[in-house]
Amino acid sequence: MTGGAGFIGSAIVRGLLASGANRVAVVDNLLSGHERNLDEVRGAVDFHRVDIRDYEALRTAMTGVETIFHEAAIPSVPRSIHEPVPSHDVNINGTFNVLRAAKDAGVRRVVYAASSSAYGDTPVLPKIETMQTNPRSPYAAQKLMGEYYMSVWASCFGLETVSLRYFNVFGPRQDPSSAYSGVLSLFMKAVLERTSPTIFGDGEQSRDFTYVEDVVSLNLKAAQAPASVSGKFYNGGNGWRITLNQAWELLQKIEGVQIPATYGPPRAGDVRDSQADTTLTAAALGYSPKFSFEHGMRSTLDWYRTNAD
Ligand code: UD1
Repeated sequence: MTGGAGFIGSAIVRGLLASGANRVAVVDNLLSGHERNLDEVRGAVDFHRVDIRDYEALRTAMTGVETIFHEAAIPSVPRSIHEPVPSHDVNINGTFNVLRAAKDAGVRRVVYAASSSAYGDTPVLPKIETMQTNPRSPYAAQKLMGEYYMSVWASCFGLETVSLRYFNVFGPRQDPSSAYSGVLSLFMKAVLERTSPTIFGDGEQSRDFTYVEDVVSLNLKAAQAPASVSGKFYNGGNGWRITLNQAWELLQKIEGVQIPATYGPPRAGDVRDSQADTTLTAAALGYSPKFSFEHGMRSTLDWYRTNAD
């Protein structure tokens, strides 16, 4: 597991252990992850504080590993525009290293955290895997390059790979402490602190917000699917789309408060609407999301309420 101390990675670690794994090896450089995310499962985790750009250390950490979930990345569309060098280095060179080390270590399969941002800002909805990609930011281009590398490692080197295009994942442990944090984590922090969130644009942009526990199930399915999925990519969303205005409305309703959002200029590189077609993922991986948006939002809010710093 790369990025196993992060928000999504640590959820997959817990999911693996809950579904019968004995031990999980975690690689993380703690750039944006936190060891506290693994507190509940510490006894079953072999933690390696390793940067994925360090091939030798990565190769050593992968000894005896059967499946890798590659979650380590520098996320965020705007961060990749403001700081393109580190995001390129980690997301492209790091991903290359993960594949090279996985092949050399005799790993069976790599399941990769790809991104819906690959689709870009085309008006056609929902986004289906057969659509042409149209990356609009360094981050989107990097995540798409990672998919190409996954596919090439399958065809040229016989490593099984599966790419999962995540659609705006949210849930407990998502870190709201940076301006680059996922919008729902920032909304949750704002509503609990009774402050006004900033919405970039008119708030009518929409996302297929996906609850992290569904992403965990998707990853477990992708790890177990027959070898015919190798080299391919699949959407990891719900098939719905929620506007930012609707999300902020729901949080105010749950908390019983009325706090108007503060509207600012639209963000550079932003995609207007995003919504997954889930047909192929359901057919090929046997996956279907279980959590409604409201359920995910309530569970996440409860978590922030009891775990606020
Ligand atoms: C993108 C990808 C997603 C990827 C993520 C990684 C798309 C459709 N999605 O998410 O797959 O996992 O990057 O970081 O490309 N916003 C505000 N106020 C804020 C913060 C954000 O209004 O304080 C707005 C943004 O302008 C955007 C929306 O909220 O319209 C979502 O932003 P964010 O949470 O950063 O995710 P994406 O860029 O959509």
